Amino acid sequence: MAHLQQHHGRAAAAQPKRARQLAVAPRAALAFNPASLFKGLTNSKPAPKDAAFTKQVIADEAKYVLQTYGRAPVVISHGKGAKMWDVEGKEYIDMAAGIAVNALGHTDSQWYAALVEQADKLAHTSNLYHTQPQVELAKRLVENSFADKAFFCNTGTEANEGAIKFARKWARVQAGIDPYDGDAVAPYELVSFTSCFHGRTMGALALTYKEQYKTPFYPMMPGHQLAEYNNLESAAAVIKKGKTAAVFVEPVQGEGGVTPSTQAFLKGLRQLCDEAGALLVFDEVQCGLGRTGKLWGHQLFGVEPDMMTLAKPLAGGLPIGSVLLKQHVADVMKPGDHGSTFAGNPLVCHVACTVFDIINSPSFLASVEAKGERLRAGLRRTMAGNPHVQEVRGVGLLVGVQLDMMAGPVVDTARDMGVMAITAGKGDVIRLVPPLVLTDAEIDKACEVLGAALNKVAPK
Ligand SMILES: Cc1ncc(COP(=O)(O)O)c(C=O)c1O
Repeated sequence: MAHLQQHHGRAAAAQPKRARQLAVAPRAALAFNPASLFKGLTNSKPAPKDAAFTKQVIADEAKYVLQTYGRAPVVISHGKGAKMWDVEGKEYIDMAAGIAVNALGHTDSQWYAALVEQADKLAHTSNLYHTQPQVELAKRLVENSFADKAFFCNTGTEANEGAIKFARKWARVQAGIDPYDGDAVAPYELVSFTSCFHGRTMGALALTYKEQYKTPFYPMMPGHQLAEYNNLESAAAVIKKGKTAAVFVEPVQGEGGVTPSTQAFLKGLRQLCDEAGALLVFDEVQCGLGRTGKLWGHQLFGVEPDMMTLAKPLAGGLPIGSVLLKQHVADVMKPGDHGSTFAGNPLVCHVACTVFDIINSPSFLASVEAKGERLRAGLRRTMAGNPHVQEVRGVGLLVGVQLDMMAGPVVDTARDMGVMAITAGKGDVIRLVPPLVLTDAEIDKACEVLGAALNKVAPK
């Protein structure tokens, strides 16, 4: 128990009720021995394997797993906070966080406690029945946003898929037709922007910018219009009354190159949508939930959407997605219109409530902003004088280094030197989306390594 309390020190400060509940849980009533489960929190390190083991896992992956990913040649074994270790025992600072997912880092004690607590009761029932954790998560999301209702799904692309369907049905109802009349036609076009990324399933893929993600799977879903990001004139040319159902935009583009919208652009889109009778949808799968230092990315701009899609960090590493909707959109959806077997199950929702409560505190959000500033300042310092750096940009802990060359070799070298990063844009941006809980010392070390890696690959 002493061990448990020690690991719940931060929990007690941020969330006394939840932590206390767990600390005094009547252990005798539990069917398992929680002490053995909490062993994971002692940071137990698996015994390091040799290079032959790494080689074998990579060879087996090639043999048995469908080859849709270009993976780095490392096999990750475990993590703690913003650190990860590979199976050979090499330590990394994780500046990728599973592509902006592990907001609380790896094996956070409160995350782990919530997972165990709920796993001991109920993991899944489908949406045939009511479960309390789903309602609790919806309440948190609705009461802390512009929205009136939450829909749950399992990934970011699914959240956008849901938003596409809600927008299409909303437009049919708005047009005054019977939405179930297959012959009736209503505005159905969806607008998205250059460099956007909305996902890999057929609806979200149609909205996504990069042609190489789409062409092998042609034909795409019809009714998509593309406009130039941060260019209102270009948007105005395609957002049309009687044609457009919805406009999808990331308030801060992530995969596209870590590019914030301008306030004028988002405000202008809001106005164009209102004039055209179209919905404005913010994709905050990457920039939402504290990553920018605000709970929602759009709070940086003072513009509210009709719908917002979320996923990545919501359950701190368990799969979940959500669409938040204003009531006027929610009103058109009826039982049977959309759904998912796994969505919003009690296990993932209970964990997500814990993640949400930790992120949604003024001091936590302020720390993200401060860490982001430290990271950008550190990168500017350690990369100073390297002529290949064009810009260090971003908001909060969504940070990009724009190079005039491909970033892949720098990312590979940094990994060899113990820092995990990813790329973005045309492959010419180093993208850093670390756990929101990384320490100042980890930020400083990551900046030193990234600067040294850049100078090694592309000497000054
Ligand atoms: C803005 C944005 N939308 C949607 C997605 C798709 O999310 P997922 O990979 O969970 O389907 C991503 C993933 O990177 C994203 O960054």
